[in-house]
Amino acid sequence: MRILAIETTCDETAAAIIGEDLTISASVVASQEALHEQYNGVVPEIAARAHVERMLPVIQQTVQQSGLSLANDIDAIAVANTPGLAGSLLVGVTAAKALAMCLDKPLVAINHLHAHVYACQLEAQRDVFPCVGLIVSGGHTHLYQYANALSPEYLGGTIDDAAGEAFDKVASMLGLPYPGGPAISKIAVKGDAKTHQYPRSFIRDDRLDFSFSGLKTAVRYSITGPGNIPVDSVKLDDQQKADIAASFQQAVVDCLVAKAVQAVERTSLNRICVGGGVAANRVFREQLKEACDAKGIELFIAPLKYCTDNAVMGAIAFEKLKAGLVEDLSVDILPGLVRV
Ligand code: KG4
Ligand code: ZN
Repeated sequence: MRILAIETTCDETAAAIIGEDLTISASVVASQEALHEQYNGVVPEIAARAHVERMLPVIQQTVQQSGLSLANDIDAIAVANTPGLAGSLLVGVTAAKALAMCLDKPLVAINHLHAHVYACQLEAQRDVFPCVGLIVSGGHTHLYQYANALSPEYLGGTIDDAAGEAFDKVASMLGLPYPGGPAISKIAVKGDAKTHQYPRSFIRDDRLDFSFSGLKTAVRYSITGPGNIPVDSVKLDDQQKADIAASFQQAVVDCLVAKAVQAVERTSLNRICVGGGVAANRVFREQLKEACDAKGIELFIAPLKYCTDNAVMGAIAFEKLKAGLVEDLSVDILPGLVRV
């Protein structure tokens, strides 16, 4: 059995063909980074229009790469319909509906967040559930307890910005390009993480929540000093930027690691699976591994290439197919986060 999975929740137009044994026949991701870079973040209208332009070429390229026939070798169409940008989601869902109708194949709707966690299964090549799941992306920073891939129970999450969003905003303050995560982690290598003592919200609290908005503000004031001085009017040298990047990155990583461990300890599960763009961060991966090793927690982190948005993680659709959870053509998009 094989599926064609489609992903258009934010600013990547992606498609993949995956087998039930999680073999990947093809995967194509058309990034829109260049279009959004000048705005230091994703512009929803531009993202939606770019998906319209790229959707069919991306599907065509995926099918071509696989050497398979869409009509004869694909058994179902999967698409992420939640959460995400409304205009972006509509493009993927509409394309998936059209394919499902024309090819007379079942249509499976995927939750993008849980698909990020499912990316861990691709590397592990075994069942990683039950587990605690941490999604750290540009739009979300959330913890779930999973009895299985399709039964998420919300444990906690950010009360304001997502971790990735904070990376993107701080990068912009430092004059670094979008997306900010890779740019910050690159310059942070030359910085001293002890230079600035930035806040680590809730780190000593019981609650399994995150807050990165105060951290963003603290970074801003460490650049401008008190008062309403525009951040781009302050000239920083490369070492100052590296020190801010390293101190900021360490503050985010400390919060993520602390809450991940706390969440596992709160549950009877001894396993955590981590996915989403920020999970590509080297310092985060290393420090989470150290913390989990010290506590004897089994850790799975999505493989680097499947941390940021892709359609391969749409393989979670096989779990739905096995459970008989298919949609009819009236399936809608659900842009907001449903905490389940
Ligand atoms: O999962 P993703 O591709 O999209 C969403 O679902 O939001 O995550 C994108 C986010 C961006 O905010 C980007 O800055 C961040 O992931 N990111 C990173 C790294 N690579 C990407 N953050 C920190 N370190 C990285 N190496
Ligand atoms: Zn994502």
